[in-house]
Amino acid sequence: MIQVKNLYKSFGQKKVLCGVDLEVKDGETLVIIGGSGAGKSILLKNIVGLMKPDKGNILIDDVDITKVDKSHIYEIQRKIGFLFQEAALFDSLTIEENIAFGIKNLTNLTKEETKTRVSQCLNMVGLSDIEHLKPSALSGGMKKRVGLARAIAYKPKYVCYDEPTTGLDPIMSDVIGSLITYLKKELAITSIVVTHDMQSAYKIADRIVMLYEGKVIFDGTANEVKQTKNTYVKQFVEGLREGPIPVETTFTM
Ligand SMILES: Nc1ncnc2c1ncn2[C@@H]1O[C@H](COP(=O)(O)OP(=O)(O)OP(=O)(O)O)[C@@H](O)[C@H]1O
Ligand SMILES: [Mg+2]
Repeated sequence: MIQVKNLYKSFGQKKVLCGVDLEVKDGETLVIIGGSGAGKSILLKNIVGLMKPDKGNILIDDVDITKVDKSHIYEIQRKIGFLFQEAALFDSLTIEENIAFGIKNLTNLTKEETKTRVSQCLNMVGLSDIEHLKPSALSGGMKKRVGLARAIAYKPKYVCYDEPTTGLDPIMSDVIGSLITYLKKELAITSIVVTHDMQSAYKIADRIVMLYEGKVIFDGTANEVKQTKNTYVKQFVEGLREGPIPVETTFTM
């Protein structure tokens, strides 16, 4: 189980997270929504231990990762796969080397087994025969899917996905949504998914939370989101200009 308790993170004067509370039960898929700049990526980076919060606690299976020393952080990171918003592949490595990176460091698979695992994971995200290529030879959507293959390659217990379907065509977005559900059902992987893609959110989420002004302002099922009377959530998911969330543009038509 992942528990986030009263989490704070600022950059200078800019307060990004102002007391975030969150719980993700084992086997659950939690979707996080919220406006651009709401702090979704920052929250994920704190959860996977890439960033330290200013205040608050993050418990992964009851171990507080804000308190453990560096050597133990790796043990915890082994449990969590992370898909970066920008895919963040190593440009100088081939696709195979990129995906094998976590497998080599975090598992005991042999070279042959690693090779097989890499192609299996590529296949899961709808790619094949690109092992020898460098990331620069791939389209944006392909890089994203390689990032996803890398996040799941060592079969972590938890996977955090930062916008897994952004930049993918609608059919591939659906494939990735189904993949997240498959990983949950077949491998019991617990997922946290940040997305702006409400269609996919409704499909994959056990629960949806919305971040606004540094806090969780909503926590409910897809049906509860669709029927909500919370004017902030309603405005956001329906993409309306009118409502309590200020729209920072003077552009009108
Ligand atoms: N390293 C940093 N230094 C200073 N400010 C930062 C840093 N990283 C993020 N921020 C700020 O924190 C805020 C939240 O950023 P974050 O990337 O979490 O947004 P987000 O909710 O993921 O948005 P998007 O939907 O556009 O990806 C933004 O205002 C951003 O400018
Ligand atoms: Mg982001």
